[in-house]
Amino acid sequence: MRVTSGLHLLLLCSVVHPSALCIALALLAPGSLSAQESLQTSHPERQLELWPELSSGIASDPAIEERVETLISELSLERKVGQMMQGEIQGVTPSDVSRYGLGSVLSAGGSYPGLKKDATAADWVALSDQYYEASMNPNGGGPGIPILWGIDAVHGHNNVVGATIFPHNIGLGAARNPDLVELAAKVTAREVAATGIKWVFAPTLAVTRDDRWGRAYESFSEDPTIVYNYAGRIISGLQGVPGDPDLLGPAHVLATAKHFVGDGGTLEGRDQGDNWSTEQALMVLHGQGYFSAIEAGVQSVMISFSSWQGEKLHGHHYLITEVLKGRLGFDGLVVSDWNGHAGSPEAGRPGVPGCSLASCDAAVNAGIDLLMVPYDWKAMLRNTIRAVEAGRIPMERVDDAVRRILRVKLRAGLFEDGPPSSHPLAGRQDLIGWAQHRAIARQAVRESLVLRKNESGLLPLAPAQNVLVAGPGADEIIMQTGGWTVNWQGDGITNADFPGATSILSGIRTTVEAAGGRVTHSPDGRFSDRPDVAIVVFGEGPYAEFEGDLENLDFSSRHPEGLEILQALSQKDVPSVAVFLTGRPLWVNRELNTASAFVVAWLPGSEGGGVADVLFRLPDGGVEHDFSGRLAFSWPKTPDQALLNRHDPEYDPLFPWGYGLQYETKPDPAQPEGVPDGMKSNAF
Ligand code: BGC
Ligand code: BGC
Repeated sequence: MRVTSGLHLLLLCSVVHPSALCIALALLAPGSLSAQESLQTSHPERQLELWPELSSGIASDPAIEERVETLISELSLERKVGQMMQGEIQGVTPSDVSRYGLGSVLSAGGSYPGLKKDATAADWVALSDQYYEASMNPNGGGPGIPILWGIDAVHGHNNVVGATIFPHNIGLGAARNPDLVELAAKVTAREVAATGIKWVFAPTLAVTRDDRWGRAYESFSEDPTIVYNYAGRIISGLQGVPGDPDLLGPAHVLATAKHFVGDGGTLEGRDQGDNWSTEQALMVLHGQGYFSAIEAGVQSVMISFSSWQGEKLHGHHYLITEVLKGRLGFDGLVVSDWNGHAGSPEAGRPGVPGCSLASCDAAVNAGIDLLMVPYDWKAMLRNTIRAVEAGRIPMERVDDAVRRILRVKLRAGLFEDGPPSSHPLAGRQDLIGWAQHRAIARQAVRESLVLRKNESGLLPLAPAQNVLVAGPGADEIIMQTGGWTVNWQGDGITNADFPGATSILSGIRTTVEAAGGRVTHSPDGRFSDRPDVAIVVFGEGPYAEFEGDLENLDFSSRHPEGLEILQALSQKDVPSVAVFLTGRPLWVNRELNTASAFVVAWLPGSEGGGVADVLFRLPDGGVEHDFSGRLAFSWPKTPDQALLNRHDPEYDPLFPWGYGLQYETKPDPAQPEGVPDGMKSNAF
């Protein structure tokens, strides 16, 4: 990579360490970039040279390029524009696919074949086959072009009942383990492949700067170094490694880096809001994940619902065409987000000026190749064809879009692989939630836990005790899995929708009973038989996107139950371990002060047993798993510290970025501020 910037720090850095990460490190040196600077409201000149010059990790293949050009020459305008449309599976029949020549379908959160929530791998594959056959037999003849089906597999194959559900990204960020993250992505790719789908809308590479954002948990960290370090590895896990024979092979899927760019930096953390960063901050803070993703060969990029300096990303020619496709060398396909061109103006989320659900020349002209128009694709198709005929969208733009879509389809082997049901892993129900996959997710749970407080060395607990397990989250798997699980918001489902999963309670029960101890489950914390210790599991309920946005970070005024249980236990002198389930840092000072020990478990997913693995000693007294998680988000001291990030000039967190206790070190938990800054020990 070549860095050609006039900035002194960049030049210095490019000489010493010529990597994209280096740019971030140099510019994030203390004092170099304040929150105020990053919120500057002026509109400076565009500075394309600020961005690194990159090229895709998957080299251009002349044979593929030749096939792409031949195919393009055989397609009518209607067929070309058809390739640029993506409808939702509930709004697209296989006969629509052959009639309109659609290039792609998606399944939204909670959309299953035949609306059957517990659809099996075979059900998914059967529908995938139908779409495939339709796409290979277009009405009116011409070349068959295999359809590409995309799905949100953001923490495992989360739309599929029984799949392995990993901790959400915020937990993986705390684990500081790129190898594990790559392995998790491999597992996800395999489970997706078992359902006959070749494309996932993951990973989210947002760098969340304001913790009120309802998508904070989809972000690995407030700090771009972690996002940079993880992004490329996840792409390798999902797609395979460029140069390896199994790249995009049967056990791999196409990945999507999303949401380009700056989704985590909107004003007040508002979902689909406006990011007022300078261009430098946009690149340094929010761009980093894309750099390593492109270098690892990511094949698709999804555009953010948000705006940059007042301009919707979905209509942003400069960022999509000049920066992403030009300077960053991205040669895969750019997909829009769910009606992102139109927005939801009635709900205060504007679209691209002049666009409606059914038409948006500006989005295509800005450089979007594939339009996610879940239910209005037919009108969009018609209007886009007309816009090309009327000269409002140049033919070269359409050809560029189709070239990219076909290139990705050819690289993914769709033309050679035949019907989805003939792929080696298709229909392998045994891979969905396979024990070995769950073991990796359980490891991820263990490594994501962050220990905040451990008064008098209460943890690790001896298992052969009388343990009370309390709190609303103890046996409520949706509180572990959060949004984007089984459905969009991850709510309205029960433990029965998680066959094979383990709640935190059941993990504790197994561990304690195996050692001869006793577990009493009491959701409200009341007991008749005095316990030796209580574990109180509480936190946020599931949410996704804008529904999860907050005004401030005050937790207990919204959810008082955890604090009440902890206070009652404290009054009775029962030592308590708080296990906090959350999608973001929240103000929990009272809970922290009341509990004897405090563990942040984030949104750990389907393998709740990973919590007991770390809380308890072995029956012989030894410690098998110590805590290793470190905060990837700074923790607030007050409910209004939502904009609190590592390297802020007046950084004053309750717990700094990098904080996390371990059994071995045993610092004084009563004075968290006095604990040495963990950042130093957490460099990758
Ligand atoms: C989200 C995307 C997601 C898409 C499809 C959108 O609302 O922002 O992250 O991929 O829906 O479900
Ligand atoms: C879908 C999501 C989508 C969202 C967009 C929901 O109905 O299930 O996948 O991201 O709408 O607003």
